[in-house]
Amino acid sequence: MGAELHETAKALVAEGKGILAADESDRTIKKRFDSIGVESTEENRRAYRELLFTTPGAEEFISGVILFDETIRQSSSDGTPFPNVLESRGIIPGIKVDKGTKPLALAEDETITEGLDGLRERLAEYHELGARFTKWRATYSIGGERPSEYCAWTNAHALARFAALSQEAGLVPIVEPEVLMDGDHSIEESAKATGRALNAVYTELHDQRIDLHGTLLKPNMVLSGYDASARADVGEVAEATLECLYRHVPAAVPGIVFLSGGQTDEDATAHLNAMNARGPHPWELSFSYGRALQAPALKAWGGDPANAEDAQKAFYRRAKFNGAARTGSYVPEMETAAV
Ligand code: 13P
Repeated sequence: MGAELHETAKALVAEGKGILAADESDRTIKKRFDSIGVESTEENRRAYRELLFTTPGAEEFISGVILFDETIRQSSSDGTPFPNVLESRGIIPGIKVDKGTKPLALAEDETITEGLDGLRERLAEYHELGARFTKWRATYSIGGERPSEYCAWTNAHALARFAALSQEAGLVPIVEPEVLMDGDHSIEESAKATGRALNAVYTELHDQRIDLHGTLLKPNMVLSGYDASARADVGEVAEATLECLYRHVPAAVPGIVFLSGGQTDEDATAHLNAMNARGPHPWELSFSYGRALQAPALKAWGGDPANAEDAQKAFYRRAKFNGAARTGSYVPEMETAAV
């Protein structure tokens, strides 16, 4: 069991590859579809995800896809279940298993993630449906005394419980503590908040007997707040993020797969590239982007099946650029060149 978890974790951060997060909840995918004026019906969600999963050549840069509960049960138009569609192309299917965030009791503007009750049984079913890895997201906001130690430790405890249950079920847990970058905070405040969250996470993972070799970390990058008047540049972001990770993430963790968290797709690629250009590092540094991989494809699609091919080209392009960022070989000039 241990060896299989290690293999899966390593395969997810194989050279030049990263993860597509396509695990938007019903509420989130509705927001994305609203932005292009498309109704969020089950069939539209299915058709959009099929387009992504069947993009020719995507497997050159995509090692795994994180699915949502509805999506792991859906099939392509020829009736092949999505997990099989992915597997047949050498892409590992994964599943988001948290049930979203709720206000943290007796705290102001802080959240706790739900979904532990009944998780053992749900994991067994997801394994049966073809999933080989899982994801659980905790969120932390910056401002005043936030994130509080209370918020850091309660979320870390839940993340570790999720990770233990996942490993027990033969699934690689992707542990996602996301410090949100909304607000006008400085990059130093972002580094402090991210360090606080990660410190609690790795203490709890240790205490709850997690085999770190069979896990991946999905953190935010350390950025200035999106509303800050002076925003750190690409080099500063790379240095601050690396410094934070070197202090808090054990070398036993095989890979760190960043979330994009509302950065533009080009920023998300440039930041990852700058970190890898400063390598080698003790862990693989890769991506597990939702918006930063999908935004151009979603726009090109616009809900019209006639645009599927253009949308696939847009997705392939973003995947390729992020693949290049895995080795520090991305240059912004690629954005204007033909792919
Ligand atoms: P973004 O890259 O859009 O932040 O999504 C990644 C993710 O899975 C958030 O939970």
